[in-house]
Amino acid sequence: MVYFDNAATSYPKPKIVYDTIMEVMIDYGANPGRSGHKKALKASRGIFDTRTQISKLFNIKNPMDVIFTFNCTESLNMAIKGALKPGDHVITTSMEHNSVLRPITFLGKLGITNTIVQGDSKGRINPKHIEESIRPETKMIVTTHISNLTGNIMDIETIGKIAKKHGIIYLVDGAQSAGVYDIDVEKMNIDLLAFPGHKGLLGPQGTGGLYIRDGIELAEIFQGGTGSISHSLDQPDVVPDKFESGTPNAPGIIGLGAGIKYIFEEGIENIRNKEESLTKHFIEEASKIDGIKLYGCLEPGYHAPVVALNIGDADSSEVSYILDEEYDIAVRPGLHCAPLAHKTIGTFEQGVVRFSFGYENTHEEIEFAIKALREIAKEV
Ligand code: ALA
Repeated sequence: MVYFDNAATSYPKPKIVYDTIMEVMIDYGANPGRSGHKKALKASRGIFDTRTQISKLFNIKNPMDVIFTFNCTESLNMAIKGALKPGDHVITTSMEHNSVLRPITFLGKLGITNTIVQGDSKGRINPKHIEESIRPETKMIVTTHISNLTGNIMDIETIGKIAKKHGIIYLVDGAQSAGVYDIDVEKMNIDLLAFPGHKGLLGPQGTGGLYIRDGIELAEIFQGGTGSISHSLDQPDVVPDKFESGTPNAPGIIGLGAGIKYIFEEGIENIRNKEESLTKHFIEEASKIDGIKLYGCLEPGYHAPVVALNIGDADSSEVSYILDEEYDIAVRPGLHCAPLAHKTIGTFEQGVVRFSFGYENTHEEIEFAIKALREIAKEV
């Protein structure tokens, strides 16, 4: 199969990730942070090592400010629901995933108001419009770094400056950027960074995390066993325990650490350059095909390895089905859990066929997909 669905989850993972997970499961799959025996301590050290790798990648000073979750959606829920209280106002954009829009809509029913800044027809968000939406009661700005629909890169550095200037918490959804694009929480004034482990960071599904800047007040959503301060019925007030109740996904988290080490070894810039080169190749060739419509802001430097397209008025699910059945090419059709983003670029009815490239893809695979699209465009 030619796998072009890396925005949903990266596949395949580097071999070292599979090997590491197996090693943890077989050699020391004990419960970290609970018992004091050798295998439990080894698992704890493995988890701490992943916290350290993540901190190095995102320029986080204290690894304990990184908490592990089961995916980016959980991280976003923890950040949004943990920080906002009735009476607060939150600003987000029309290019967000439902993992941001649904918690914010849910909180709307509890007295937390919101403004959704509208993108233009290419899905671009003007940071000025975010600043204009600030009210005295605005507590948080939430934006994605890269749209999971168009691949547009958001100017998070400028938005971070706006948030800092006004003393507002800035939460970034790094679902599509972590591991491929540079994220520096200091330089970009990011207070909260939600990220998945299983996309660009090359870890397994069931891993994700949240960076919480020291001093940001966040209520925990879950309470439970942490293996610490066990005499007390109150949740510990220290990070990461405050936000990590219950047995963690140790094999997954340690496997994620192997994925991040692989990124350091290959070089994030090399990974990005390769994926951008594949994307450029694809866009150049696809735009020559009669009837193909490409969406988003396609200029290099503003566009990540996610490409949204349609063939004439053909249903995006039908095109994706043909790609899968007749060509063994995996893509994602439909609305991509981002209904407002689709409304923004005018594809809410048709959906789009989304191609998302990864480090393992090749230019030969791009040529093959282009040939397939050419043939399908003649038929539908
Ligand atoms: N959020 C992931 C995607 O965009 C699953 O496909």
